[in-house]
Amino acid sequence: MRDHVRFYLNGEPHTIRGDDAFVTLTNYLRGPLGKVGTKVVCSEGDCGACTILAGRWRGEEIRYEPVDACILFLHQLDGTHVVTVEGLPEGEGLHPVQQAMVDHHGSQCGFCTPGIVMALAGWAEAGCPHEPASPRISLTGNLCRCTGYLPIVEAADKLKREPPCSLNRREKFAPLQNDLRRIASEPLKIEMATRLYFAPTTLAEAIAFKVQHPDAVILAGGTELGVLHNKRGYDPLKILSLTRIGELNAITRTPRQISFGANVNWTQVEEAIREPLPEFHKIVQRFGSPQIRNVGTLAGNVANGSPIADSLGLLMVMDATLELASPRGTRQRPINGFYTGYKKKDMAADELIARVHLPLPDTADRIRLTKVSRRFDLDIATFGAAIRIRDTGGVIQQAAVALTGVAATVVRLAETEAFLRGRAFDESTFQQAGRIARSEIRPIDDVRGSRDFRLQLAENVLLKFYHDEMEAAPMRAKART
Ligand SMILES: Cc1cc2nc3c(=O)[nH]c(=O)nc-3n(C[C@H](O)[C@H](O)[C@H](O)COP(=O)(O)OP(=O)(O)OC[C@H]3O[C@@H](n4cnc5c(N)ncnc54)[C@H](O)[C@@H]3O)c2cc1C
Ligand code: FES
Ligand code: FES
Repeated sequence: MRDHVRFYLNGEPHTIRGDDAFVTLTNYLRGPLGKVGTKVVCSEGDCGACTILAGRWRGEEIRYEPVDACILFLHQLDGTHVVTVEGLPEGEGLHPVQQAMVDHHGSQCGFCTPGIVMALAGWAEAGCPHEPASPRISLTGNLCRCTGYLPIVEAADKLKREPPCSLNRREKFAPLQNDLRRIASEPLKIEMATRLYFAPTTLAEAIAFKVQHPDAVILAGGTELGVLHNKRGYDPLKILSLTRIGELNAITRTPRQISFGANVNWTQVEEAIREPLPEFHKIVQRFGSPQIRNVGTLAGNVANGSPIADSLGLLMVMDATLELASPRGTRQRPINGFYTGYKKKDMAADELIARVHLPLPDTADRIRLTKVSRRFDLDIATFGAAIRIRDTGGVIQQAAVALTGVAATVVRLAETEAFLRGRAFDESTFQQAGRIARSEIRPIDDVRGSRDFRLQLAENVLLKFYHDEMEAAPMRAKART
């Protein structure tokens, strides 16, 4: 079993031992290495100034993705090829992304520029996807205060026309591939007098470790834990990482459900649900930023159990189940009823979430998701709603309504649902349902929105559901013929 972290930085091998494995990548780069191209502004994944590319072996080659280095610990990089702005150019000249930024005047003070260059390099690595919103979406994790985004988007458009060569094709990086592949499949255990870190390769080993160390904190993408570390000094002394347990990487789909292993990140979820759950896809595209989606996991979102988590409303109205693994085997736990208070869960200390099973909608299901946030992109929700209605011949057979941001947990609205069942699918029904929804919740004022605002949203969102459905009806009918 390896007892030290191994990764590559701009093609050069790095070995990290002991306490050093627990520092963030930005501190390592900007401190002992003096590589200050990677900037730090917010230290919480919000501004993208610290964006680097993390290259990991994925099947046939290394996939380079933009991630925020300020909330990434060195132990998370084991088996990764890190590329920073210093390592992006090949030889003396500029990399094509940098050249495009120069050509289109994409930089003024320059503080955000290395992060933007790396975000665009990640987008180019993904093949400059030609979706309508692209490359805007690739830049939602990067703030620029002085240039304005137009020249930057123009630089990206140039890349679309003349895509740069992938880093996988770079001669200097070719020998890394086999080594990275091997490192990433080895278990890793760092044992010190004060600290313990374990990344096993089997679920059985992970469970055995959790029994021995019930106080060990599970680390997935670390997007929650990284922020807590930087902002509140949270520094767990025992960490269990599930990230190299291969069986937890899978997304499996049957005609009735789609299942996500604990290691599946939001970028993978986004791709998998695009076709079967387009409403969820729209929300996931607004989940954090590409940098956050490339590391944060669905299981981490569920385990964290925030009352404003973006996944929970949908999981609840779809009656998702969680596969919890422990020394007693696995059990399927419905997500409804799983949260017993603010971030409190019906889950034993020796249990972990192995998989999330999400039933797929029936053709008669109408599903609408709403996320209200102060900023459209890269912002957490002030309020959210998930509504699923199944009706036959204009009569509602099944109704499920979940709201986020109105209580200590995401909540299902039992009275509203009971009212809707058996009623006509018409405006008056949804108007009345909205008033019941309003009476069912006791939201609070906070920095994101007032109590009254949330109450009004709860009422309006039901009526909005009706009008959105009516507007979409001709398109639905056309799609059926
Ligand atoms: C800049 C930024 C933007 C964000 N935007 C959004 C957003 O738009 N919407 C949103 O909902 N959230 C958002 N988040 C929150 C966060 O990214 C998500 O909750 C993410 O899904 C957490 O996943 P993770 O893998 O990073 O979790 P981690 O930070 O690794 O873990 C989170 C918690 O879950 C526990 N845990 C993780 N995996 C398991 C498991 N398998 N079994 C048991 N416990 C486990 C950990 O111990 C920890 O307590 C944002 C965060 C940041 C920093
Ligand atoms: S410093 Fe702002 S995202 Fe890392
Ligand atoms: S160029 Fe100054 S912040 Fe972007």
